[in-house]
Amino acid sequence: MWPPSKIIVALDYDNETECLAMVSQLHPAQCRLKIAITLFTKYGPPLIKSLHQLGFDVFLDLKFHDIPQQVAGACLAAAEMGVWMVNVHALGGLTMLKSARAAVDSLPNKKPLLIGVTVLTSLDLNDLHILGVSGSPTEAVLRLATLCREANLDGVVCSAEEAPLIKSTLGNDFLCVTPGIRLADGNKHDQKRVVTPIQAILGGSDYLVMGRTITEAPSPALMLNQINQSICTI
Ligand code: C5P
Repeated sequence: MWPPSKIIVALDYDNETECLAMVSQLHPAQCRLKIAITLFTKYGPPLIKSLHQLGFDVFLDLKFHDIPQQVAGACLAAAEMGVWMVNVHALGGLTMLKSARAAVDSLPNKKPLLIGVTVLTSLDLNDLHILGVSGSPTEAVLRLATLCREANLDGVVCSAEEAPLIKSTLGNDFLCVTPGIRLADGNKHDQKRVVTPIQAILGGSDYLVMGRTITEAPSPALMLNQINQSICTI
């Protein structure tokens, strides 16, 4: 087995050829891979199977949000596919979250990590207000993360800036999976609040979701090596 990396590379492509061309430049010892709704809707389980055959752990980022029975079925299907991590929307409510947990736990072994999505970073205070979600985004994140903890999920997706609060409130074993990571001198693209890999790990992030910093690097493998080395001694 390879040493586990804390980096999850976001494969935000819309076609399989580009996706697999990027994957061919990476190694399972360096990173895990995240597949989201666009690629999965187009290419489905066969794409996940191809990535597994190449030896990669896969985070299936489909953010399930539906009635409990449907979400349970989707989580079970993901677990049976053998993915390493899967996520659901905390806004689906406690019963839905518990159903997702029960579905994943119904498998005897090799269960995926079950992660909750709290507040999408595309939503600001005004958006939350319109949706009837009270308090600041950070308060809403903590409230929803607490709900995920109550349902026994393994952790949440959150910003690295929120990880210290989540860890201190909900416990160090509650995983924080954090996007919005950038090198100190790197291009921020469309991310507004960014944190470096070292800052994220120091703040308690367990896994760093990184897309363009790696996929747009002249050498993605070299970039991954540098990032892995910078955080492996923390
Ligand atoms: O290219 P970049 O590093 O910005 O990619 C970040 C990845 O993390 C993308 O796949 C994006 O969808 C995801 N993400 C995010 N912010 C969130 C949740 C997920 O950027 N709050």
